[in-house]
Amino acid sequence: MTGQKIDGIAVANSVKDRVRAAVAELKKEGIEPCLATVLVGDDQASASYVTSKQKDCAEVGIATKDHRLPQTFSQKELESLIDLLNNDNTVHGILVQLPLPKQLDEFGVITKISPIKDVDGLTPYNMGLLASGRALLKPCTPSGIMELFDFYKIDISGKHVVIINRSNLVGKPLYHLMLEKNATVTTCHSKTRDLKSLCLGADIVVSAVGNRSRFTLTQDMVKEGAVVIDVGTSRLDGKLAGDVDYDNVIKKASYATPVPGGVGPMTRAMLLKNTVTATSISKGIGTQR
Ligand SMILES: NC(=O)c1ccc[n+]([C@@H]2O[C@H](COP(=O)([O-])OP(=O)(O)OC[C@H]3O[C@@H](n4cnc5c(N)ncnc54)[C@H](OP(=O)(O)O)[C@@H]3O)[C@@H](O)[C@H]2O)c1
Repeated sequence: MTGQKIDGIAVANSVKDRVRAAVAELKKEGIEPCLATVLVGDDQASASYVTSKQKDCAEVGIATKDHRLPQTFSQKELESLIDLLNNDNTVHGILVQLPLPKQLDEFGVITKISPIKDVDGLTPYNMGLLASGRALLKPCTPSGIMELFDFYKIDISGKHVVIINRSNLVGKPLYHLMLEKNATVTTCHSKTRDLKSLCLGADIVVSAVGNRSRFTLTQDMVKEGAVVIDVGTSRLDGKLAGDVDYDNVIKKASYATPVPGGVGPMTRAMLLKNTVTATSISKGIGTQR
């Protein structure tokens, strides 16, 4: 059996179409959704992520305000900028590109962002809402993964989901979103014992390690018919690669995401969706869940 490739680009395009329509509706009401992006330092990869996010916004009609700050920017200066953006009525979403330079306290900065402008869904308030099953602004990667399941009508209820990641960005929020859909969820990490047997027992495996030289999810680690979602990004022979040995795993899985073209485009699309949601929240005009 060869499974079906989950096409993240196609699903992301369908999310973008919905966002474009929602933006057009908001503009008819005289509201122009706007995302402020904040980049501190000169990391090339981070700079290109921010540029891509701004291009995505332009594609669906969302305005952006670009803040590029020097590597030496202080905690106090950054928190003052966040305050300014929190109080700016023309800004609906605030994206602080992570990671921040080492001298800055990332948690302190994230905590400063107004929860209603928190388009990454990473403030403690929104994380708490997520754990309570009430979040409107959910972290982009996990919510993008949930969209993939929706789009392909893959049932989650009662399934055993193994997530290989326990970060605030991926594993923890995904745990809650999967639980909300009645999955039985096991969260794994670098200290987990006998990962292979846990994966072999899973109906759905989500892998987000991102270090191909240290970890590869191979065909012998997944059961026949499993759904495999690859979040990891790493380099293999100089090329972008995920955690999963896709060419072999797809021969055993029912569905699997490729890298590139799987979860990555979804993460980007969900940022757009969150920006529209944040705009709607700030204007009190109903939201897209
Ligand atoms: N495609 C996208 O849109 C997207 C979005 C977000 C992230 N990513 C990618 O996803 C990956 C993870 O991102 P992150 O921010 O969550 O990184 P992270 O904080 O470094 O998380 C990596 C996780 O993998 C676990 N791990 C490391 N080695 C392992 C091993 N040998 N066996 C089992 N688990 C192991 C770690 O365990 P410990 O907690 O014990 O260290 C940790 O929980 C990265 O490659 C990142 O680039 C992609």
